[in-house]
Amino acid sequence: MSDPAIRPARVDDCPAIHAMVRELADFERLTNQHVATVADLRLSLFGLRPAAEAMVAEIAGDVVGFALVFATYSTFLGKSGLWLEDLYVRPAFRGQGIGRSLLLHVAALARERGCGRLEWAVLDWNTRAIDLYRSLGAVPLGDWTTMRLTGAALDGADLTPSGDPAPAG
Ligand code: ACO
Repeated sequence: MSDPAIRPARVDDCPAIHAMVRELADFERLTNQHVATVADLRLSLFGLRPAAEAMVAEIAGDVVGFALVFATYSTFLGKSGLWLEDLYVRPAFRGQGIGRSLLLHVAALARERGCGRLEWAVLDWNTRAIDLYRSLGAVPLGDWTTMRLTGAALDGADLTPSGDPAPAG
């Protein structure tokens, strides 16, 4: 099998990336949380103000994996960082170094941009991915808990935009 080419995603990759996001959601047993459409993804990656960017791994013209990142910021470091939202390689292509290569390309991007950190979350049962991450020198942040406000809790957060409690009535 030929080596994969890692390249920035193009707008015509969006259907393939969207399909792989669904496969990743299935793998993570989170299918019900994947509600984004191809159009949402296209707007997020290639709209007027892109929220994220992606790179893909391509073999013989087929997209077989991707990594999707967006910018973060650390006040402690006074520097931007990168958040790796998704890393995915299609099952038939796993175990050949493609995931490692995608991650190394993301790390190179972070270095080029002078980032202080490259960070991501991984489910604690995903030991194969965790082994890969550890082999690259990544360390788990065991004393941090990820929090999320979403759905009804976000809609119902009882504050005005200024941060003051909403007036009664
Ligand atoms: N099959 C084979 N090897 C695997 C697998 C797998 N499913 N998953 C991890 N590995 C291990 C191998 O042991 C390998 O170690 P070795 O080189 O010492 O043999 C190591 O990972 C590196 O393997 P690569 O070939 O570079 O990784 P691969 O191309 O298989 O990609 C990835 C790794 C992205 C984790 C892939 O297996 C995958 O897509 N898994 C399902 C989705 C997933 O877990 N994504 C990461 C979620 S976390 C996040 O998105 C930020």
